[in-house]
Amino acid sequence: MRKKVSIVGAGNVGATTAHWIAAKELADVVLVDVVEGVPQGKALDLLEAMPIEKRDVAIAGANDYAATANSDIVVVTAGIPRKPGMSRDDLLNTNFKIMSDVVEKVVAQSPECILIVVSNPLDAMAQAAYRQAGFNRERVIGMAGVLDSARFRSFIAAELNVSVENVSAFVLGGHGDTMVPLARYSTVAGIPITELIAPERLEQLVQRTRDGGAEIVKYLKTGSAYYAPSAAVTEMAEAILKDKKKILPCAAYLEGEYGIEGYFIGVPCKLGAAGIEQIIEIKLTQEEDAALKRSAAAVKELCSVIGV
Ligand code: NAI
Ligand code: 2OP
Repeated sequence: MRKKVSIVGAGNVGATTAHWIAAKELADVVLVDVVEGVPQGKALDLLEAMPIEKRDVAIAGANDYAATANSDIVVVTAGIPRKPGMSRDDLLNTNFKIMSDVVEKVVAQSPECILIVVSNPLDAMAQAAYRQAGFNRERVIGMAGVLDSARFRSFIAAELNVSVENVSAFVLGGHGDTMVPLARYSTVAGIPITELIAPERLEQLVQRTRDGGAEIVKYLKTGSAYYAPSAAVTEMAEAILKDKKKILPCAAYLEGEYGIEGYFIGVPCKLGAAGIEQIIEIKLTQEEDAALKRSAAAVKELCSVIGV
C-alpha cells in the first residue's frame, strides 16, 4: 500500500511541498485548508500533471480532516507568513491558535502519524503541537535546520564556485535571529570551510544565513520563502517514509541533551520510520554552547508567552 502524507495549509509552502512529494512519487497527498476550493483546485491541478511526470500518486484537496485519516505523516504549514518588517515571533499568538486547532483535528484522524511542523515561530509552534498532540517526542519534528543549512550551503558553494553536492553544513539552534550556524562542522569535500574561507568573509556568510528568511521576505513583500522550505520538508519526509536513518538538523524536544530540558531546539537528528530515532550530541566549543543556550532561552521566552 502507498504511503500517505497530508499537508495542512494549502498556501505557498504547503502546495509546493505537495508538488515535490508528488514529483518524487513519495506518497499519496492530501491538501487541507480553511479556504474553500483552494486545496481542491491545487490538488486537482497537480494531479493532472502526473501523467506528464509519469507518477502514480493520488492527490486530493479538502476543507475537513476526514480525508486525512490514517496519514503516515502530517505536515502543518497552516498559519500566517511574515510580511516585510515582521519577525517570525510577530506571528506567535495567531499561529498558536491555528496550530492548536489544527493538531487537535489531525490527531483525531491520524493518531499514529508523525507530525512535521513548519508554521512560525517554528520552535514554539513545534512545542505547541507537541503539547496538543500528546505524542511521544519521536513523532513531533520541527522543520528549520534543513532549510537554514541549505541556505548556508548555497552561499558556501557560490563563494567557492564548487558543486552544492560537495558542501555539507550544519545550522543548529532556534529558527530565528539566534540560530547557530556551525562553521567548524561545515565542509567542502570533507575539508573544513574554516580552511577555505577567511574568518571575516565566513562571518558575512553566517550572517546572511541568519538573515536568509528576511532577505526573501524583502524581495517578495507579500509573503515569505517557500521553494527551499518545501524542499526541506520533503527531504525530512523522504527520510521517514523510506526509513533512511538520515542525519538532518531538526527541531526536537530535548530532555537534557545539550544541557537543555523541555524545549524544542534545532539539533542533529537521525530520521527514520519511527521519526526522530536518535538525537546526536556533538561536542560544542564554549562559544557555540553559549550561542545554543541563548537560542534556547529565546525559544523558552516565546513558549512562556503562549503557555506551552
Ligand atoms: P501562506 O499564507 O501561503 O499559506 C498558509 C495557508 O494556511 C493559507 O492557505 C491559509 O488559508 C492556511 N490556513 C490558515 N489558517 C488555517 C487553519 N486554521 N487550518 C488550515 N489552514 C489554514 O503561507 P506560507 O508561505 O505557506 O507559510 C506558512 C507558514 O510556514 C507561515 O507561518 C510561515 O512563517 C511558515 N514558514 C516556516 C518556515 C520554516 O523554516 N519553519 C519556512 C517558510 C515558512
Ligand atoms: C524562512 O526562514 C520565513 O521562516 C521562514 O524563510
